[in-house]
Amino acid sequence: MTTNVRTIVREVLGQLSSSKEARLYLRQFSSVDALNFAVVKVGGGIIENQLEELAASLAFLWHLGLFPIVLHGAGSQLDQALEDAGVATHKLDGLRVTDAATMAVVRPVIYRTNRKLVEALERHGVRAQGIQHGVFSCGYLDRERYGLVGKIKGVELEAISDTVEAGILPVVTCLGESAAGQVLNINADIAARELVWAIKPHKILFITPTGGLLNGSDELISAISLSVDFQSLMRQNWVHSGMRLKLEQIEQLLEPLPPSASVSITSVGNMARELFTHEGAGTLIRKGEKISKLETITENQREQLRGLLEKSFSRKLRPDYFSSLKLQTILLASSGRAAAIITEGIDGIAYLDKFAVTPQAQGEGLGAALWQRLRAEYPALYWRSRRANPVNNWYFQQAECTAKNETWVGFAYGLPDVTSAAVCIEDAFAREDGWLPISNSEGSAT
Ligand code: ARG
Repeated sequence: MTTNVRTIVREVLGQLSSSKEARLYLRQFSSVDALNFAVVKVGGGIIENQLEELAASLAFLWHLGLFPIVLHGAGSQLDQALEDAGVATHKLDGLRVTDAATMAVVRPVIYRTNRKLVEALERHGVRAQGIQHGVFSCGYLDRERYGLVGKIKGVELEAISDTVEAGILPVVTCLGESAAGQVLNINADIAARELVWAIKPHKILFITPTGGLLNGSDELISAISLSVDFQSLMRQNWVHSGMRLKLEQIEQLLEPLPPSASVSITSVGNMARELFTHEGAGTLIRKGEKISKLETITENQREQLRGLLEKSFSRKLRPDYFSSLKLQTILLASSGRAAAIITEGIDGIAYLDKFAVTPQAQGEGLGAALWQRLRAEYPALYWRSRRANPVNNWYFQQAECTAKNETWVGFAYGLPDVTSAAVCIEDAFAREDGWLPISNSEGSAT
């Protein structure tokens, strides 16, 4: 990195919540081959309405030495141009029926949209190159029905990888051509999917005006772990057909990719925050990982768990912590980044002895997924947490009964009545500490 770039990086990363987090993600994103960092899909509307901001966000990544492969549509520009040209727009099954007259309008508009973005990037000091042809080899999807609409047969990565190797940002259009050289129109979502499958990027970014998926109360859903949330989301009545389709498409999109891959739906302005913080700013969708229920653990798992707990709480466990547990089960995420330790409590009720999730896994929604599993496995549960624990606000939302003493907050749910909850919480307060004492005892251990 040149000094100049480093200065920009420091400046921008400094504006993010924690530059330590940002550096971690920069390392992560730089550790994959340059070609495999990200595919970014932007709709025509964004290029139309937020061009300078978009160019600035992409320029930021380029200056960091990252080469997102930009794929763009031109939907809103096309609608306008066709109207101006007096060519009627027909859509069938969500696809633009493209006859010769339509294509005559479509082609120049797509080229112009592509040039507009490339020029804006150049104004922001980025070396960018439009790639208008030679990526998607197509046949006709159904010539009778849709006209000049392509069905992608193959994705040629040569032009894109040459560009990236030369340090240039590739900006790809959604045009394909047939073996005979006929230019064909491709739906941007389908083109994005094929490009993603060919590249297998670490990140997939969808830049949208809303900047994420919204729940039934119009609030942004921060993270979706498909293995845990997909079925239940599809059952929600507020998940309307457009979102249903989007979720299904994203599930298919991630299917052939490694588990580390993720989709982020975000806005132009939130792109850097989404990429470089744990918390993100948008909706992160991952395949999600398996959470296993273990009754005994191996030596290795024990050490992995010890590492997770000590790191999460910044404290040392007592050497005999594991051997003295009256263990019921451990719920452990397959990456080892989230775990819940459940022991035998009073009157056969389960006691949550430890709950730990790394900050990064938290941003992925793994903490919420683990909690959901915990609730499903244990209809009644109680636990305690130090009064200064920053997670307490969240625990208050999960619990039905809570009480405090000078050191602890006790929580419980699923108990038949207040008296039994009180008995449990009292038991929680009286339990031995699993941690070694430290001088500054305001740790955040449960
Ligand atoms: N920065 C990380 C990533 O891009 C985590 C983002 C978390 N985002 C979220 N909306 N929860 O993979």
